[in-house]
Amino acid sequence: MAVLASSIATDTLQDYLAEQEEKPLLRFITCGSVDDGKSTLIGRLLYDTKLIFDDQLATLERDSARHGTAGEAIDFALLLDGLEAEREQGITIDVAYRYFATAERRFIVADSPGHEEYTRNMATGASTADLAVVLVDARQGILRQTRRHAFIASLLGIRHIVLAVNKIDLVGYDEAVFAEIAKEFRAFAGGLGFATIAPIPMSARHGDNVTANSAHMPWYTGETLLGHLETVPLAGQDLGRPFRLPVQLVTRPDQDFRGFAGQVASGRIAVGDDIIVAKSGRTSRVKAIVTADGDLPAASEGHAVTIVLEDEIDISRGDVLATPRDRPQLADQFMAHLVWFSAEPMMPGRSYILRTETDSMSATVTALKYQIDINSFSHEAAKSLHMNEIGVCNIATQSPVAFDSYKANRTTGNFVLIDRLTNATVGAGMIDHPLRRATNVQWQALDIDRNARAAMKHQKPAVLWLTGYSGAGKSTIANMLEKLLHASGRHTYMLDGDNVRHGLNRDLGFTPEDRVENIRRIAEVARLMTQAGLIVIVSAISPFRSERRMARDLFLDGEFIEVFVDTSLEECARRDPKGLYKKALAGDLENFTGISSPYEQPEAPEIHLKTAGREPGELATQIAEYLGKH
Ligand code: ADX
Repeated sequence: MAVLASSIATDTLQDYLAEQEEKPLLRFITCGSVDDGKSTLIGRLLYDTKLIFDDQLATLERDSARHGTAGEAIDFALLLDGLEAEREQGITIDVAYRYFATAERRFIVADSPGHEEYTRNMATGASTADLAVVLVDARQGILRQTRRHAFIASLLGIRHIVLAVNKIDLVGYDEAVFAEIAKEFRAFAGGLGFATIAPIPMSARHGDNVTANSAHMPWYTGETLLGHLETVPLAGQDLGRPFRLPVQLVTRPDQDFRGFAGQVASGRIAVGDDIIVAKSGRTSRVKAIVTADGDLPAASEGHAVTIVLEDEIDISRGDVLATPRDRPQLADQFMAHLVWFSAEPMMPGRSYILRTETDSMSATVTALKYQIDINSFSHEAAKSLHMNEIGVCNIATQSPVAFDSYKANRTTGNFVLIDRLTNATVGAGMIDHPLRRATNVQWQALDIDRNARAAMKHQKPAVLWLTGYSGAGKSTIANMLEKLLHASGRHTYMLDGDNVRHGLNRDLGFTPEDRVENIRRIAEVARLMTQAGLIVIVSAISPFRSERRMARDLFLDGEFIEVFVDTSLEECARRDPKGLYKKALAGDLENFTGISSPYEQPEAPEIHLKTAGREPGELATQIAEYLGKH
C-alpha cells in the first residue's frame, strides 16, 4: 500500500487526507486475552477494513499522476502497521494504537499486546476511549475478568460497551448459548451506567459478524461489529466545558517571547480571554494563540497550541491554565479510585511517583478506604491492593496538584502511580474529590529553624540509618556509637525498632503493610528530630528498599547515611539472641525476616559494615569516623 500511496498525486492525496480528517473519529479499546481471540479480531478488523480502504485508494489511483511524496506515505503506512511487529522485535510496549478507516468513520483502537496485564493496558490506553469491546469465548461465557473489564471500562468513563461473544462457530452457532451469555452480561453491565450495551455473536476467525453479516446465524438480526462501530452515537465535543490547558512546556526562544504550550483538554479559549493559573491563582489575559500553522483567534478542545499572555507571570510545566470562572481544584490530598496492576501489591504509606497529564511528584496512599468486589460491587475492607484489584483510597502528594474530578474531566482528573525503583507504572487513578480537611491545614512557618537549633548545639544534624537482619548487631553497634558521640559532646537520639514498637508503633505487626508504616513513622520522627538539630541513630531491620529510599528522600542531601549491618543470615540464625529464628524455622512465627519475609539488601549504602570477624566497638568507631569526615 505504501507503494500505491506514493504513486498518488500530491494534490489528490492532500484532498484525500483532508477528507479523512473530517470524518468523525471513534476511539475504542479491546479487552480480553489472546485466548479469547483478541488478536484475531483486531487482525480481522484491520484486514477487512483495509480491503474496503484499498478500493477507495484504487479509485484515487486511477486519477492520480505518477509522483507523490514520501512524506504523505507515512499515514498510509500506519494502516499497515504489523500487528505482531512489536512483539517480534521484542519491544515491550504498554499500548499500541492502530488506525483504520471506512467510508463512514476513522478509528483508533488501543490494543494491548500482553494478556496478563490487561488492566494496565486498559487503564493507560482508555482514558480517551468512547467504546470498549469486551471479548469472551462463547464456550466459556462470562468470566470474572469479563466483569472486571466492564467495571473498569465504566470507571474510566467509557460510554459504550460491546460484548464480542467470539468463537461462536465452536458452539455450532447456537442461538441459545449466545442468548444466555448476552442476558447475563446485560444483567450486570446494566447497572454500570453505559449509554449502550451491545452483545454481538461472532467468529473473528471466520469473519462472521465482524465486518460482514454471517450466513451461519440467520437468527441474529443485529449489527455487525464494524456496523456498530460506524453508527454508535459519538458524544460531540462540549465546548461549554470550562477551559483547561495542562502546561506541557514553557517555551522561551528569546527575551520577548514566553509561551505556554500544551493541548487544550477541554473548552475553548480566544485572544483577549481572561485566564487563571490553577496553582498560584494569578490571572492574566490571552495575548496570542500560536500554532505551527500561524496564530489563531481561538482554540478549542484537542488543539495543540502555545498561549502567550499579556503579563509576565510565573508558570511552569505541570500547571494548568484555566478560566477564572471555573477554576480547577488545588489540593495535596484527595480521594480517588485506584486500579492496581503491579505484581507487587500497593502499600499504603509507601512513596510512589504520581504523574498527572503534565505534572509529577512524590505521593503516598495514606489510606485504603475499601476494595471493590468485582462480582458483587460491594465494598470490602482491605490492607493492600493486589494485581488487577480496584479500590478507593486517600492520596497525599508532596506538593499541591491542580486537577478536576475524573467525572468532570477525564484528562485533568486522571493520574498514574509509578514505582520509584523500577520506574514501572503500577496503578492508574481517577480522582473523585479533594479532601477539604487536609486542604484547610497549612504549613506554619517558624522563626527558629533547624539551622538555629543545630547551631546552638554546635553540630550538623544527620540520620544514621542502620539496616540489616534481626540479630545482625544493629542495636549493639548503635548503642556503642551513641556512647561515642555522646562522649564527644554530640546531641543524639536513638530510635530502635524494638523500642518504638512499644509505644508509637504498638499497633503495628510484621506484615509487609505494617512494616511499610513502621518505617514511615520512624522516618518522620527522625525528620522531626533532625529539625530539632539532633544526630539521630535509627536501628530497624527496614527490609524494603522502597521505604529506605522514601526515608532518604525526607532529608537534605548528605544528611541521610545508610549503614548496612551486613551479617549473614546463617550467622544471625546461629546467634539467635532472642530465640526468634528457632521459632520462625519451626514455623511458629509468621513473616519473619529472612525466613518467611524478604530482606532487600542495600545497593549503595554510604557505609557497608561486613561484621564477620570484627568487634562491635570497632564498627561503631568506623561509623563515628565517617561522620567526622563528612
Ligand atoms: S521492621 O522490619 O519493621 O524494620 P523492626 O526493626 O521495627 O522491623 O523490628 C524488628 C524486631 O522485632 C526484631 O529485632 C525482632 O526482635 C522483633 N520481631 C518480632 N517478630 C518479628 C518478625 N516476624 N520479623 C522480624 N522481626 C520480628
